[in-house]
Amino acid sequence: MSLLSRPLVLGLETSCDETAAAVLDGDNRILGHVILSQDVHEVYGGVVPELAARAHLQKVDSVVNEALERAGVALEDVDVFGVTTGPGLIGALLVGVCWTKAVAWALDRPWVAVHHMEGHLFGPVLEDPQAEPPFIALLVSGGHTLLLYVTAWGEYELLGKTRDDAAGEAFDKVAKLLGLPYPGGPAVQRIAEDGDPERHRLPRPMLRRNQTVEDPAFYDFSFSGLKTAVIDLTTKLGDSLSDEAPHVAAAFQDAAVDVLVSKTLRAMRETGCGRVVLGGGVSANVHLRQEMERRIQELDAETGPRSVHHASLRLSLDNGAMIARAARFRFEKGESAPLDQNAWASLDFPGLRDGSRGITLPKT
Ligand code: KG4
Ligand code: ZN
Repeated sequence: MSLLSRPLVLGLETSCDETAAAVLDGDNRILGHVILSQDVHEVYGGVVPELAARAHLQKVDSVVNEALERAGVALEDVDVFGVTTGPGLIGALLVGVCWTKAVAWALDRPWVAVHHMEGHLFGPVLEDPQAEPPFIALLVSGGHTLLLYVTAWGEYELLGKTRDDAAGEAFDKVAKLLGLPYPGGPAVQRIAEDGDPERHRLPRPMLRRNQTVEDPAFYDFSFSGLKTAVIDLTTKLGDSLSDEAPHVAAAFQDAAVDVLVSKTLRAMRETGCGRVVLGGGVSANVHLRQEMERRIQELDAETGPRSVHHASLRLSLDNGAMIARAARFRFEKGESAPLDQNAWASLDFPGLRDGSRGITLPKT
């Protein structure tokens, strides 16, 4: 066992449909990294919770073993285990949590409970040392849309959240309407490349130019109205939908990205913080990344140096490395989980505090 001040950490992620494990050395270098995306869900057009749990159970051992092998270490070399305990699909989470508890107990090692979205927050810094607080974080995944002011690791001010669908959920639902496969985000992005975003105009929900910071909707998001607008449009298009699909995809992507970027810019202006970090599966979206880069130039000079940070594709989507990184942070703060620790389908974001704007904290 290496020095516990710089522990070797194994991170395990099983909250949805990726069985993922990674090993980080004491300097947060990724030694071994494996993501197994379950394909059993494809025919259903979405994740089937029971099938996800069963697939994790079948594959968790081999995924961890492969990550250890690639890292060139043995299970006994791991000093600290980290695992996602929520939020997510409960059956899927329980597989990772039970595996981790059993192994940590057998090897007499500490283990740490990790919040999935805090994991996403730590994804970018694994590759980009500049992705350090203070920054504005836009966390966009299949289940969550959060705008945070991260003043320090572990200290998160909630600025905005979605009031209904998450951004990734909207991409997935629009993909389904357009007859595209699951997961919808990459498929929508792909066909939108051949589309004209101006051909159909879609609404920008909760984005009015005259909103002020006192307005409770100033930072919040809503995507269900946008989805309804796409349903209305596809109904109107009828038989011509197959020809129009790239244009509909481009118009939807444009509207969703416009809202995400505009609200992030508001946060940068209000806080004076010029650094933005994108996390979660939707942060893999190329249009989102490009628009964020382009539009931060709109900010006044007083925001100071402006920069956008995001992870590469493999660390934007669900992965074990981000869980290991967050686990190390929590472990260094003195946290470790007891053997009666549970898994939770919904779970409070640790260290999240109400902003100064009277926002009610969500169960994230
Ligand atoms: O973080 P993630 O891998 O899993 C969750 O925590 O939910 O995010 C998955 C979500 C899905 O909704 C997927 O459609 C979306 O991220 N996504 C994208 C892209 N790649 C993945 N959305 C838009 N554009 C993409 N390129
Ligand atoms: Zn995720």
